[in-house]
Amino acid sequence: REVHVVRHPLVQHKLTLMRQAERTTKGFRQLLNEVGMLLCYEVTRDLPLADVEIETPITTMQSPMVAGKKLVFAPILRAGLGFVDGMLDLVPSARVAHIGLYRDPKTLQAVEYYFKAPPDVAERLVIVLDPMLATANSAVAAVDRLKERGCKELRLVCLLAAPEGIERFHGAHPEVPIWTAAVDSHLNEHGYIVPGLGDAGDRMFG
Ligand code: PRP
Repeated sequence: REVHVVRHPLVQHKLTLMRQAERTTKGFRQLLNEVGMLLCYEVTRDLPLADVEIETPITTMQSPMVAGKKLVFAPILRAGLGFVDGMLDLVPSARVAHIGLYRDPKTLQAVEYYFKAPPDVAERLVIVLDPMLATANSAVAAVDRLKERGCKELRLVCLLAAPEGIERFHGAHPEVPIWTAAVDSHLNEHGYIVPGLGDAGDRMFG
């Protein structure tokens, strides 16, 4: 059960700006994109490399490149979309799987409304993206769905997690490591992360 809390000063600084209630939609969206890049850097830190032969202007040499199949980023709509552009800037060849889930406000259960993944998603490393890990119902449902499609190598990137969400997520998917910028105090009675930053989807899209 791996949980990586990314304590990089730029990540922490940007997260503080995002928590502030006065942050505008435009500012929030831009910051989420920037934090997405930084979290992408961390979640890809151990990707395997393989040497290839190249020609420099001077000579030939063996030089490393990322090995294997291209990555898949799998944003959970809507809020996960906020990570995608920044991550694709860093990994332009990645594929994208869209997972539409909303959280029923009464039951807090995740309800699926869209799922579209590349045909060979099962052969790739899939990085599930959702800024908020609250009850984890959404993230658990997303990983369930990807596993149904045969995916074996999965990682989860969020911005903020509640301890209850981490517990529940790893209860269901213990082998899927989590990267997050912070673990907050708890969930309130409406399933919101406290102190948190509100609803990321609403703050980004209105
Ligand atoms: C929010 C958030 C996560 C989910 C987290 O989405 O963006 O996807 O809830 O909660 P959970 O861990 O308890 O499942 P929401 O349902 O509000 O949809 P939205 O992103 O479209 O606003």
